[in-house]
Amino acid sequence: MSATATVSSAPPSAAPKFSERIGRIEVSATMAVTAAAAKLRAEGAKLVDFGAGEPHFATPRHIKDAAIAAIEANFSRYTVVSGITEVRKAIVERHATDFGSSYSPEEAVFTTGGKLALFNAIEVLVDHGDEVILPVPYWVSYKDIIQYAGGKVVYLETAESENFRVTADAIERAITPRTKAIILNSPSNPSGAVISRADLERIVRLAHGRGIYLMLDECYAYLIFNEAPFSGASVTEAKEHLIVLGSLSKTYAMTGWRAGFALGPKPIISAMSKLQSQSTSSTAAMVQKAAIAAVTGSQECVCEMRADYIRLRDTIVDGLRSIPGITCTMPEGAFYAYPNVSGLLKKSGIATPAELTTRLLHEAGLVVVPGEPFGTKEHIRLSYAVSHKDVEEGLARLRGFVAKF
Ligand SMILES: Cc1ncc(COP(=O)(O)O)c(C=O)c1O
Repeated sequence: MSATATVSSAPPSAAPKFSERIGRIEVSATMAVTAAAAKLRAEGAKLVDFGAGEPHFATPRHIKDAAIAAIEANFSRYTVVSGITEVRKAIVERHATDFGSSYSPEEAVFTTGGKLALFNAIEVLVDHGDEVILPVPYWVSYKDIIQYAGGKVVYLETAESENFRVTADAIERAITPRTKAIILNSPSNPSGAVISRADLERIVRLAHGRGIYLMLDECYAYLIFNEAPFSGASVTEAKEHLIVLGSLSKTYAMTGWRAGFALGPKPIISAMSKLQSQSTSSTAAMVQKAAIAAVTGSQECVCEMRADYIRLRDTIVDGLRSIPGITCTMPEGAFYAYPNVSGLLKKSGIATPAELTTRLLHEAGLVVVPGEPFGTKEHIRLSYAVSHKDVEEGLARLRGFVAKF
């Protein structure tokens, strides 16, 4: 038998030999909860779902019509990787009108969802050992995306007693010579906290002055409740170090369309497009047409949805605060409540929010997300982008569950 034959006859190993970098990340916690709930639902369970952050509204009619018209017109081929000029122009004009920013279409890339904009921005800027400042609690994906790039997450604790608000002073204290980037998400998923306009503008100038990249995740920018929406990109003189990460998912109830974008300095946007050219290429052509309709059409739909989220927020926060063992900060935006359940854990003997989440799912038919993947140990996250009936029913189920202890 030849040496070659001996090698090829070796039995294949059962376990795949994964890359080192895939071992640095975990499955998105919200996706995992969605999967567990879907399994129970398939078995016939009637769940109330406060899990995934997904508007309960249908995508507005005029946006759907634009996509249908694009399909009928056979607008269904590859497009330029960064998105057709028309969609990038529409996005930068919307942003300029609403927030006073100043970008050209060449400073914009259209991406397959806001998550890809974030992923690509981090991949092109963060190197091994670079520090990235991340306020706690944070959206589940930031940590993993930073770690996938080899970056080091520097957690910045915020105070629950101050509504989890991020301040410029706190950011300044967290900066070290190795800080490469800062990620801010206002309003925040999961806490609904909003960074004040004054603090945000100070942070934008601070980052620019120190040569640190500031990534502003504006996924929920239109869902600020107490004042008109604003963006750090209005500080146009600091745009050299600013990357705006945008998404149409929540603003226009378009989660499944996968439509996001980034705005930033031309060299960074070009690098992100280069990476995109070797991965997803452009977004779906008809989605680009739908996005144009979304951002150039009437924004009344956004105002109506926002008004409903405010009513839902008031109902759920009042309800949560009335349940013994639960306290809740007042979310100032987005569509999440982030109650503290430490009192409930203590009196029920349930060890962790993760265990509480499992018990709520199986014993109360209630889907929530545990706080651990958001970086805290005493909270659960409830998405209230659901019908008013579901909010009432979900609260009743939670009250019934708590009454057992
Ligand atoms: C804070 C935040 N950023 C970005 C995203 C990504 O949104 P998408 O990829 O659907 O545009 C989400 C989605 O939940 C989010 O909560």
